[in-house]
Amino acid sequence: MNYRTLDDLAGGQRVVVRLDLNSPVEDGRVRDNRRFSRHARTVRDLVDADHGVAVLAHQGRPGRDTFLPLEQHADILAGHVDHPVEYVPDTYGAEALAAIRDLEGGDVVVLENVRMTEDELPEKPPEEHAESDLVRTLAPEFDAYVGDAYSTAHRSHASIVGLPTVMEAYAGRVMVAEYEANSAIATRDFEGEVTMVAGGKKATDVIEVMTALEDKVDNFLLGGIAGELFLRAVGYEVGRDIGDMDLYDTQYEQNRERIQRLIEAHPSELVFPTDLAYEGDDGRRHEDTVADVKNKDDDYLDVGTDTIERYADIAANSEAVFVKGALGVFEDERFSDGTVRVLEAVARCDCFSVVGGGDTSRAIEMYGMDEADFSHVSIAGGAYINALTGEPLAGVEALRQVDGEPETQA
Ligand code: 3PG
Repeated sequence: MNYRTLDDLAGGQRVVVRLDLNSPVEDGRVRDNRRFSRHARTVRDLVDADHGVAVLAHQGRPGRDTFLPLEQHADILAGHVDHPVEYVPDTYGAEALAAIRDLEGGDVVVLENVRMTEDELPEKPPEEHAESDLVRTLAPEFDAYVGDAYSTAHRSHASIVGLPTVMEAYAGRVMVAEYEANSAIATRDFEGEVTMVAGGKKATDVIEVMTALEDKVDNFLLGGIAGELFLRAVGYEVGRDIGDMDLYDTQYEQNRERIQRLIEAHPSELVFPTDLAYEGDDGRRHEDTVADVKNKDDDYLDVGTDTIERYADIAANSEAVFVKGALGVFEDERFSDGTVRVLEAVARCDCFSVVGGGDTSRAIEMYGMDEADFSHVSIAGGAYINALTGEPLAGVEALRQVDGEPETQA
């Protein structure tokens, strides 16, 4: 891809770097997570190259409980970079400008949550964002912009597309690693079989990805909500809401035609679960073969043992495996087998492997797997989906360069 990276950036400059430190929040406390450790590598490299560094980032959105200042983020980041990081409770006002002008080589400041300014959030084209007060105030204070917020790159926000439009722009370490791995399924030719684990709760997202990649993937291993919806479409008595559940019927109606079309077009590429697991009255895991279900009385929480063995075998014999969504409710150890055993097979296989989709990558941490056994574990949510489907990401397009000039803008 045609962009400049940190390796092209001469040392000792004043740099503004856009990170994505948006994190889960519990009782007002920001939870440390792999976004900090990943972005810390970019910040560390900038510090080592003697740059004065100002970090722009966001947390939550206005009106949500997770919408917080970035003070805690500065502390957590400092721990990961192993270097002092100062929090500045201002984004581009007088206090922020004073802190930026004081920056010396190796200094790092985190400016206030960029979504606390009115300029950031409207979805606008880069050239309009370039006219915002935020961009017009901050751009002249720095020699370079580093775009590292891959997981926000699907948003056309001021700090994502406006700043790189008017500044010398470079892709950070996270941006490069995420972009190259996640877009591989859409852009690379693999000689052997390409497999996608198609699970999770958001069946609509999964079906969108499947539709975009139907000619690239040899095996779609169906699980999670999508798994049941596909089973329902071929006549099994699963994939329906029971009790006050609201996961299946609406998503089925929304996707019915796309599901039917995929089934007709890809009879051998779609791999269906043959058994499913549920919690019995004794509180333990039980399994039903899908053919035996006459009336859905139980909430299915994982794929069953036979399915797991088949899926693990297919994954092990693939040349590339992309994981989009968990096969079951892995947070509950009784229903973690599908997700974990298939991930373990992917980890062991000699294949190109990418795991993403928000929660799925958390299973790797929860069950003590080693991230290094996968080619890439994504920290992105929405941007991961866009990248898998090969859709351009505004924040990546804004960094593209031709002969030193931005090539295209989203
Ligand atoms: C994310 O966590 O997916 C990114 O930070 C984007 O956040 P958003 O969905 O609020 O734009």
